[in-house]
Amino acid sequence: MFNAMSNNLNDGLPYGLTLTTLQHLTLLSAIALGSILWVEIVRDLYHVLAHLWSPLGRLHNWHHRVFRPDLSVMSEEIYRKAHWYNDVPEALVMLTCSFLPGLACWMGGYPLAAAAASVGSLYTLTFLGGAIARGAGVPQMDELTDLTHRPGPFTTYPSHWRVNRTYHWRHHFDDQKAYYCGTFTLVDRLLGTALSLKGKTIAVTGASGSLGQALLKELQGQGAKVIALTSQDHPLTITRQGETLPVKTVTWKIGEEEALQSLLEKVDILILNHGVNVHQQRSPQAIATAYEVNTFSVLRLMELFLTTVKTNAQIATKEVWINTSEAEVNPAFSPLYELSKRAIGELITLRRLDAPCVVRKLILGPFKSNLNPVGILSADWVAQQVVKAAQRDSRNIIVTINPLTFLAFPVKEFLTSWYFRLFTRRT
Ligand SMILES: NC(=O)c1ccc[n+]([C@@H]2O[C@H](COP(=O)([O-])OP(=O)(O)OC[C@H]3O[C@@H](n4cnc5c(N)ncnc54)[C@H](OP(=O)(O)O)[C@@H]3O)[C@@H](O)[C@H]2O)c1
Repeated sequence: MFNAMSNNLNDGLPYGLTLTTLQHLTLLSAIALGSILWVEIVRDLYHVLAHLWSPLGRLHNWHHRVFRPDLSVMSEEIYRKAHWYNDVPEALVMLTCSFLPGLACWMGGYPLAAAAASVGSLYTLTFLGGAIARGAGVPQMDELTDLTHRPGPFTTYPSHWRVNRTYHWRHHFDDQKAYYCGTFTLVDRLLGTALSLKGKTIAVTGASGSLGQALLKELQGQGAKVIALTSQDHPLTITRQGETLPVKTVTWKIGEEEALQSLLEKVDILILNHGVNVHQQRSPQAIATAYEVNTFSVLRLMELFLTTVKTNAQIATKEVWINTSEAEVNPAFSPLYELSKRAIGELITLRRLDAPCVVRKLILGPFKSNLNPVGILSADWVAQQVVKAAQRDSRNIIVTINPLTFLAFPVKEFLTSWYFRLFTRRT
């Protein structure tokens, strides 16, 4: 059989090139897995279309009528109808499209590859069967086959690559024009619909600074309700398209973070962006300033914010973003800045192992500001890239001109995170 397989697939290779049996098995497995990914992409695109094209939307709306915010079912009748009007047609479209990769392989003269590609069709048949069974009211089918709609407390925040209940809940109750994916998050990440900022209350520290201003502007442009958290004692404004706009301003002071508790209860996304650069100083006072501003106040605010994450809705929608800087892995020619930023970077890596909500790190390269007057990038551009990356659900957002950071940071983060995971315990 393996010889036949080798002959079949080797036929298509350039003269002199042959694949071993192991390579063939790997290739066929990749085709089988690819065929599953393909049908999932079809499912998600069908879902997107249902939110754009009203004839399909009318069928899909049945699905949106089924659940209450705690994911309990409104009525058995609506639940069953929703499967006949939405899930069954969706699975039939997936099934039809599932034949395309196999057909292409068959027509290209690779029957074994076509057989591997048929895995996508078998996979889809399980969904079609599940949808028909749920529509017919077969007992316990929802528990076995409708995993992203099960009621009960959320045990974790929205997952990164696979859709969990928390991730999907947001499509129903946060923003129906986002979070389209059903099994893998790939399509949302490509479309930038893996995080919706519309209507979210977002508070930004360091709001009077260059990046603080740019972030407030960009986030407001995306439909967020922004709050400027500042150490200044006067209201701040932002300038968008030549127009000066007032912005809700709250004054806070280092060491008095607790005073923000009641505000943070109402905040969906907290962006910890304040920071200081003591440049070439090395006095005890400079050490205290660098660590108090860049490390400990950030940690205190993050911990305070995490205590406000309690309900299912908060686990699903609350987030904290921390601007640590690429000084986590590269020199910034300011040792105390590097030390304090590395300290907060590592503490975030440690604490986010137990975080109840999504925690993102911003790893930014040099941009022009009071803190870095010789920065190359513009704060506006950096803010736009940060927001786009968050909408693609990047959990470590790297925006820099230094290619080394794209290599060094993920390796450092992975190793540190595993080191912390292995040698610490959740209390
Ligand atoms: N510029 C760069 O090249 C670069 C690169 C990577 C990362 N970063 C990081 O990006 C963040 C924003 O910096 P930026 O470049 O936009 O600098 P910036 O214009 O100087 O803004 C920093 C802001 O932090 C707040 N801040 C400073 N000292 C404070 C204190 N003692 N207590 C409370 N707040 C204080 C101030 O905002 P309020 O007056 O509103 O409180 C200040 O405007 C910082 O965390 C920085 O480390 C910058």
